[in-house]
Amino acid sequence: MHKVIFDTDPGVDDAMALLFLARHPQVDLLGVTTVFGNAAISMTTRNALFLREAFGFDAPVAQGAGVCFDPARETGGFPDFIHGANGLGDIALPDPAHLRPLDHLDAVGFIIDTVRANPGQVSIVAVGRMTNLALALARDPGIAALVKDVTIMGGAFFVPGNISPAAEANIHGDPEAADLVLTAPWKVHVVGLDVTGQTQMTRAELRALAPKSPALTLLDALSQRYIDFYDRLIPDAMLVHDTCACVHLVRPDLFTRTEGAMRVVCQGIATGQTILKPQGRPFPPGEWDDLPVQSAVTGVQADQVMALVAEVLSS
Ligand code: BDR
Ligand code: CA
Repeated sequence: MHKVIFDTDPGVDDAMALLFLARHPQVDLLGVTTVFGNAAISMTTRNALFLREAFGFDAPVAQGAGVCFDPARETGGFPDFIHGANGLGDIALPDPAHLRPLDHLDAVGFIIDTVRANPGQVSIVAVGRMTNLALALARDPGIAALVKDVTIMGGAFFVPGNISPAAEANIHGDPEAADLVLTAPWKVHVVGLDVTGQTQMTRAELRALAPKSPALTLLDALSQRYIDFYDRLIPDAMLVHDTCACVHLVRPDLFTRTEGAMRVVCQGIATGQTILKPQGRPFPPGEWDDLPVQSAVTGVQADQVMALVAEVLSS
């Protein structure tokens, strides 16, 4: 079993990832922590509470950061043209007062306490900005040695970004946080656009899943606007970013990786760019020395990943 803390900014593709984790037989979902990103923190938290009821899982939900790790960095706008103004494709959503209440107001404390209660056992899967993870490291650096592994959806190493030619949105949204997470002494698997740009679900495939359960009917409905957005890039289909990271957790054999130290550009036109120093490649001594070796996920068997996604979502 994988004991998982899922850090997320739901978010349309986050919703699919949450259903995947909730349905996967080898995932023990210890908690869901929210972060701003696809919408403001009040909305991403409300959406997590709504999805908990709609998908029928029981894990606690903890509210996390609503501003960047470095308070001087602007939060920026929210991508309502992708995820809708409410973060879930502008479908009708219940008033939070009608939902099971939030379990914790301090997601960072929840992460620290959960990791310390399960030393060496917790996998963190983070598919929004890295703010909560960075805050947890800053508050309690000792957790890095106690986490089993970290898997993030974010970054772009050998392909263009999606929010600028250099940067992917989750990293660009809080680059100082991402740089701290990638240079901390824990193992991070970075599932970025190099692979999530290849995992696609068509509108027809999602529509075919819809009748199988109320959760899938909902997922189909809330994804329509997101598919409309992606139609500019890929005909009548969407990129499956966040679920791809979850698949890497449970089936790493469906991917290939390139190991090396990583940094994030935090200033200038390349802000949010993720840079890899391939392991074993010599460079003159400098700032890239003595950093932890992380793993950039650079290859994917996309058809097999998507077949597994459909199977788990339908289960
Ligand atoms: C990432 O950005 C968010 O909009 C998505 O939910 C995903 O986590 C893709 O760049
Ligand atoms: Ca996300």
